[in-house]
Amino acid sequence: MSEIPTLEDLETQLGDLAGKRILVRTDFNVPLGDDGQIADDFRIRSALPTIEWLTERGATVVTASHLGRPKGAPDPKFSMDPVRSRLAELAPGVELLENLRFDPGETGNDPAFVAQLVEGIDGYVNDAFGASHRAHASIVGPPQFVPSAMGRLLQKEVEVLLGLRNKPRHPFVAVLGGAKISDKLGVVEALLEVVDSLVIGGAMCFTFFAAQGKPIGDSLFEPDQVDTCKRLLAEATAKGKTIHLPEDITGTTADGEYATFGTRLPDGAKGFDIGPGSAAAFTDVIMDARMVFWNGPMGMFEDERFASGTRTVAQAMADTKAFTVVGGGDSAAALAQFKLDDEVDHVSTGGGASLELLENGDLPGLEALRNTDEHNGTKGS
Ligand code: 3PG
Repeated sequence: MSEIPTLEDLETQLGDLAGKRILVRTDFNVPLGDDGQIADDFRIRSALPTIEWLTERGATVVTASHLGRPKGAPDPKFSMDPVRSRLAELAPGVELLENLRFDPGETGNDPAFVAQLVEGIDGYVNDAFGASHRAHASIVGPPQFVPSAMGRLLQKEVEVLLGLRNKPRHPFVAVLGGAKISDKLGVVEALLEVVDSLVIGGAMCFTFFAAQGKPIGDSLFEPDQVDTCKRLLAEATAKGKTIHLPEDITGTTADGEYATFGTRLPDGAKGFDIGPGSAAAFTDVIMDARMVFWNGPMGMFEDERFASGTRTVAQAMADTKAFTVVGGGDSAAALAQFKLDDEVDHVSTGGGASLELLENGDLPGLEALRNTDEHNGTKGS
């Protein structure tokens, strides 16, 4: 990715940054609690190295982000106010525009909205890794009009995630969880090319169980993905890769009682977490790896009764000597809940973006920055 301009390239192109107005697209799409306050400011803190680099050079930094999924019109529920207050504490004097998605031109990538964004702006920095898989106005528009670069966070994310894809250290293990295999199909296919083994937990394991002809009780699964899972199991075998599925499951009986099952769930039972035997087996796989990518919880970790599988995997991620990368979203939230977020090598700020980068090796936001030279004569380093 060396052809994407960096902050240094931007400085070379713009000259002295003092007094220059730089638009920084950040991903401040932070989780909000019921009280409307920020539940986790990780994404705000992650943008600070770029913001500080620019302000230290005297630039006027204008940040812009989306928050949630408002429908193209102002909605007080998605106001940037809580983010603005936190940003003011962390980076005083830095401006933050109102929620970009209050304007339908953002998701519609409307040229008129892009024109509005770049008005009076001398340069643009994309540091919104988590939103760079969206071809939205604030991500792909500005590089066509003003000198542009990637920020430090975007640079780090790309380096780490493409490193997994392009320079894997073996054994390389991908641990995948979450409810739906359909959401992760593309990345599973791409990962099967580079990993030595896949570890599957979360509700998606029930679609694999169904593919193996095992009864899954009333557990969540995707009937239309059973054939896909059969194909993935066959593909893995053909490639000499291992797919580790849980060997036991924790959940509830038909009467709603907490129980641990094997891999054949009785009628009416519901699985909500991997069982203790699976958690131990998955730990062994993670401990023996040299590189591990983890995305998606092993179970319904928000409920303490079903947090143990995810907690054990998080602890193994912290304990292994392997290079460890955690995709954003729920797995990052789980790590933070278990206070293990400082114990892994890289926690991505992007959920969908990290999966899409692993799957395709590129993102619309990166492509836009790579092409900025066509529009602005920027020299990539
Ligand atoms: C995220 O939270 O993954 C990013 O901020 C992107 O948000 P979106 O899925 O609403 O585009």
